[in-house]
Amino acid sequence: MLTKNPRVVFAKRPGTGVPVPGEHVVFERSHSIDLDGVPLNGGFLTKTLMLSPEPFMRERMRDLCVASYSTHAVLGEPLVSFGLVVVLRSEKEGINPGDHLYGLTTWEVYTVQPYIEGRAKYNPAAAPDYTFDVDALSLQVVPDPKGAFPWSRYFTVLGAPGLTAFCGFEGCADAKPGETIYISSGASAVGIVVVQLAKAKGLKVIASAGADSKVEYMRSLGADVAFNYKTTSIVEVLKEHGPLDIYWDNVGGETFEAAIEYSRLHARLVMCGSISEYTIAPEARYGIKNTSMIFKKRLRIEGFLVPDLAPRLAPRFYAEMPALVAAGKITAKEHITEGLENGPAALADVLKEGGNEAAGKPIILVATE
Ligand SMILES: NC(=O)c1ccc[n+]([C@@H]2O[C@H](COP(=O)([O-])OP(=O)(O)OC[C@H]3O[C@@H](n4cnc5c(N)ncnc54)[C@H](OP(=O)(O)O)[C@@H]3O)[C@@H](O)[C@H]2O)c1
Repeated sequence: MLTKNPRVVFAKRPGTGVPVPGEHVVFERSHSIDLDGVPLNGGFLTKTLMLSPEPFMRERMRDLCVASYSTHAVLGEPLVSFGLVVVLRSEKEGINPGDHLYGLTTWEVYTVQPYIEGRAKYNPAAAPDYTFDVDALSLQVVPDPKGAFPWSRYFTVLGAPGLTAFCGFEGCADAKPGETIYISSGASAVGIVVVQLAKAKGLKVIASAGADSKVEYMRSLGADVAFNYKTTSIVEVLKEHGPLDIYWDNVGGETFEAAIEYSRLHARLVMCGSISEYTIAPEARYGIKNTSMIFKKRLRIEGFLVPDLAPRLAPRFYAEMPALVAAGKITAKEHITEGLENGPAALADVLKEGGNEAAGKPIILVATE
């Protein structure tokens, strides 16, 4: 018997700009699947419960001639992002029906895993050596299947954003109590964890976001100075509350320039992302004017990607973070949107300045079980 298998496919490369729902990213109801009979080929069949719209999905939609740290998304295929799935059938040892798994998965209700998106089109030999094969990052059984936390926590503090924050903060920031850190996109999924890790370490935290609701949220997490960069000058805030020992960059461009200007001697600038650049043409990107300050102030600028640092730091993250979350020392708010059909709009929202005004990590609830 066939069951409907709705999906969200990558329909057209956006070039520049935010992917438009219904044009670049399209919800489709036409696919079906035979849940009892579909061949598993040694893999397993999953049902998607939750999905996470994320900035890296936009990077994968870039034009084919543009190199980056991840493989390209494949036209006509479902989008791929972090998600939570439950196993329906399995031929794979160690994976059983009823298991919950978290990791990269497809924007469709039912999937035969492992999902090898566009594998035939990916040529590792032709990829720059800093490119990760997104398809090779597999799903993992959720470490705490007993329900100590709501599943949605795996999309914030206990999942990829938490791990990103932990790896960058512990691996690159070299933070010491009493220092001052500025965190841009401080209300993003990654940002809120950095805010809390920094406060727990005894730092003075300055954090910015593009909506007043997010400013309130960052304050509630302990940020000493929280401001809306759309209504308050970043330069003025850093002039008053700096200088910085650490800058956590989620944004790039003008914000990065301001952080260089108001950094102290030997400050560390941790480059986690540059979301202000993901949707604009290279020639439209902001040209930073004060790069000479980097040597004059002996600044240390370090970019990182989670897979670089995870082999060293993930064991500590999984050992320490669940206890901090259970004790209420690290928290997160989630903003849940119901229905896969609302996924394209939720993705567009995370790619806009001040988007997702409700504050809290956007999660798409596809099914309850
Ligand atoms: N290095 C790594 O391994 C790694 C891993 C994961 C994520 N990241 C990076 O970490 C950053 C945060 O990711 P996330 O998943 O936590 O994000 P998220 O929760 O999806 O939040 C994204 C937020 O970015 C802000 N934003 C969007 N467009 C912007 C623009 N043009 N200019 C300035 N701000 C803009 C918006 O908030 P406001 O405008 O309200 O601030 C938006 O809500 C991103 O840069 C991402 O690429 C890096």
